[in-house]
Amino acid sequence: MNTPHASAHIALLPGDGIGPEVTAAAVACLEAVAEIHGFQLRFSEHAVGGVAIDACGTALPETTRAACMASDAVLLGAVGGPKWSDPRAPVRPEQGLLALRAAMGVYANLRPVQVHPRAAQFSPLRPEKLRNVDLLFVRELTGGIYFGSKTRDAAGASDLCSYSVAEIERVLRRGFALARQRRRKLTSVDKANVMETSRLWRETAQRLAAEYPDVQVEHQLVDSMAMLLLTRPADFDVIVSENLFGDILTDEAAAIAGSLGLLPSASLGDGPRGLYEPIHGSAPDIAGRGIANPAGAIASAALLLRHSLGMQVAAGALESALWLALDEGVLTPDLGGHHGTVALTDAVIGHLWSQSAVDTAVVARA
Ligand code: NAD
Ligand code: IPM
Ligand code: MN
Repeated sequence: MNTPHASAHIALLPGDGIGPEVTAAAVACLEAVAEIHGFQLRFSEHAVGGVAIDACGTALPETTRAACMASDAVLLGAVGGPKWSDPRAPVRPEQGLLALRAAMGVYANLRPVQVHPRAAQFSPLRPEKLRNVDLLFVRELTGGIYFGSKTRDAAGASDLCSYSVAEIERVLRRGFALARQRRRKLTSVDKANVMETSRLWRETAQRLAAEYPDVQVEHQLVDSMAMLLLTRPADFDVIVSENLFGDILTDEAAAIAGSLGLLPSASLGDGPRGLYEPIHGSAPDIAGRGIANPAGAIASAALLLRHSLGMQVAAGALESALWLALDEGVLTPDLGGHHGTVALTDAVIGHLWSQSAVDTAVVARA
């Protein structure tokens, strides 16, 4: 286990819509975890996205960027919303998020998917299809069509998709390393029958596969992969893809798990500093009503503890407290429940404390 930081600095970027609501939930859980597990966390809050555009005309103010670069980890809520979505708007909230991902160099976006039994009834898939679903998407996050040059004139528009070998190789290597810690299966997703970047991607994946003979590798075209996720999701383990394909497939995977509100993510580069955010957006349709599902944000906080702070035990404790809170039926409306964001958060914190009481009792008995 890594040595935990004495006092880790977490930069909070609540952002827009339900972002502040789910970020507050994740922070409350982190504060409880820190108290129970006896470590210090220091939080600082900064503007990003639409609120930053409103405040200072840019989606990633320099003060926010600097605070993130000086932090041990960044926890982000969501950015965007109808107020800033005019296709002709000169600045967009989403640019702030993309600029932050690029500045932090977090090229590997981990999006784990498990299906909680309580959420399964909201999945469009039959229960037997959901048995043993345990996926880890590794989405390339700082390249491809998201970052290629863009043009627009009266007659048309273009987005360039380009990848270097080095960019493809590093994210695939991350996928292979993660597969070795799991079931040793890696699915590389591409569109090699059409796209040149995908042919380079497949060639690179094939070359690297020889270095990881203990990992079973398969290649899937993205259109077929979208179908296979629905027909046999339990067959996959680590799924690695370029940026845009990963964005689309993970919203599909969230629906399979029962709700977009459930999925967390960890965006990692070569060092310990990471960016953590639920995969959902600002959900303008439910913002400000106290009913957003905080599970994705809380699970993102657990990933932060594990990947940036090296607090494996605390991360596991938070994940199991969340699982238990859902078990006992403290569900938000997206999962058919009548509980609010705060009720689920309080239930998670309650389970954190009762787990720690059990742990203490076990130690006292020993
Ligand atoms: P969205 O993810 O915000 O919402 C899609 C649907 O899922 C909505 O019906 C919403 O109510 C529901 N939903 C999402 N999160 C939920 C939660 N935690 N609990 C309960 N229900 C939840 O996607 P959208 O509506 O297409 O996008 C809205 C805005 O968010 C856009 O501006 C988009 O660019 C932005 N966005 C931001 C991020 C991010 O910040 N990482 C991710 C995706 C979309
Ligand atoms: C996500 C979001 C972002 C993306 C948007 C908001 C830029 O959809 O994190 O999945 O496309 O990466
Ligand atoms: Mn997305």
